Amino acid sequence: MNTNRDTSASDCGRREFLKAGAVGVLGVGLGNLALAHSAVAAEPQPQSASPAIRPLKSVRIGLVGVGDMGSCHLQNLLRIDNVEVRAVCDIVEGKVAQAQDMIVKAGKRKPDAYTRGDTDFKRLCERDDIDLVYNATPWEWHVPVCLAAMNSGKHAATEVPAAVTLDECWQLVETAEKTGRHCVMMENCCYDQTELMILNMVRKGLLGELLRGEGGYLHDMRAIKFSRPGDGPWTAEGIWRLPHSVRRNGDLYPTHGLGPVAQCMNINRGNRLVRLTSMGSQSRGLKLFAAKKFGPESAQAKQHYVLSDVVVTLIQTHDGQVIVLNHDTSSPRPYSRNILVQGTKGIVVKYPEEKIHIEGRSGENEWEPLEKYRKEFEHPLWKSLAKRAEGLSQGGMECMDFIEDYRLIQCLLEGTPTDMDVYDAVTLSAVSALSERSIAANSTAVDFPDFTRGRWKNRQPLGIIS
Ligand SMILES: NC(=O)c1ccc[n+]([C@@H]2O[C@H](COP(=O)([O-])OP(=O)(O)OC[C@H]3O[C@@H](n4cnc5c(N)ncnc54)[C@H](O)[C@@H]3O)[C@@H](O)[C@H]2O)c1
Repeated sequence: MNTNRDTSASDCGRREFLKAGAVGVLGVGLGNLALAHSAVAAEPQPQSASPAIRPLKSVRIGLVGVGDMGSCHLQNLLRIDNVEVRAVCDIVEGKVAQAQDMIVKAGKRKPDAYTRGDTDFKRLCERDDIDLVYNATPWEWHVPVCLAAMNSGKHAATEVPAAVTLDECWQLVETAEKTGRHCVMMENCCYDQTELMILNMVRKGLLGELLRGEGGYLHDMRAIKFSRPGDGPWTAEGIWRLPHSVRRNGDLYPTHGLGPVAQCMNINRGNRLVRLTSMGSQSRGLKLFAAKKFGPESAQAKQHYVLSDVVVTLIQTHDGQVIVLNHDTSSPRPYSRNILVQGTKGIVVKYPEEKIHIEGRSGENEWEPLEKYRKEFEHPLWKSLAKRAEGLSQGGMECMDFIEDYRLIQCLLEGTPTDMDVYDAVTLSAVSALSERSIAANSTAVDFPDFTRGRWKNRQPLGIIS
């Protein structure tokens, strides 16, 4: 057990949360809300951050959770050389059978099945013939599965967000440090074409010194949140997604928007997220939707949903930048991740249309289509890998998902640090818990814990990977 961490982050976290709630009711400021965390967390820490791990000859995988995303990752993994899926786990037997079928149809050995309930993943983690546990379960299972994997000597890769609470974040950090295993959050949006291109532009200095970033998750998920097994293309996501909207108010899904912006700003690699403040709107969309779908007298329409329809979060970085994040999943609206990066030389925007303005290149006061810059700034990863995703069918996300999986496997085969490590996983995910605290405390500013315990100062930025 690492004694350097806030001796009992959980106790501390819970105490602070209660304090935050009380302050929210009283309506006064709370400048020291997160001081206890950062003060203790700043101590030096002996374990290595990005473990130097021996290259693997092949990556033997245990897959936990084979719903929508688990199946997408499986499709990708079946296309990548030197990957073997040895075991598949899900609480629904039929999904495991489907995954086994896919694997056999791809000409590979049938993997073993783990279907004995909620914690059967532990048996899978104990096998001695797997290197990586790939976790695409609902949010509340991310940390238990990753901890079981690392404590059994396996690397862990998890879907987003990596953790729900701050205590869970610290558990991931401590366990990755103690075991020397990778704990990677699979943030696919960092590998989307435009996000990669913006990163390339930033690395090449096109935007100058960065000043502002924006991102978000703006996705009308009302139908998905109320979905039940057999309802349609979303299988049973509603079962686990809706309860979070019932009991939590904050930015519940920050990493798709923040991940790419954080990479541009070298977060945890010379820069860090310092503090945030969040505000939430009224909560209306889910009740209105439920009344229409199930009737005004239905239990779903009478349910109280705590989650604000719109949550806006402002983050300040150590270098001085401002990041705006939006979370908007209960209103009628087109999909967006609101990506914007601005620097001293110009500004680039992804939604609703891709456009850019660069001083000296663009006309005064004019936007140019981003497409004009594609040839010059397309990221080498995209150039070399996007074609290999052809034929995959994952709702338009196939290329970025494929590249993300490819990069994970490539790093494990080469024994190099992964593009995102445990510190990135928890820093990005912690926005949820911190925004919940801020909203509960009348939008008081809340400090980010320094999960790297000072190491962010010397860690190298992610380069242009090719
Ligand atoms: N990166 C992205 O673009 C993206 C998109 C969608 C979902 N996700 C993430 O992927 C994860 C899964 O989402 P989904 O859409 O695939 O949901 P899903 O409901 O389709 O799949 C989850 C699967 O996990 C299984 N499961 C539940 N508890 C389990 C347990 N204890 N052990 C083993 N299996 C268990 C379920 O039976 C189901 O098959 C979530 O964390 C979500 O946030 C990411």
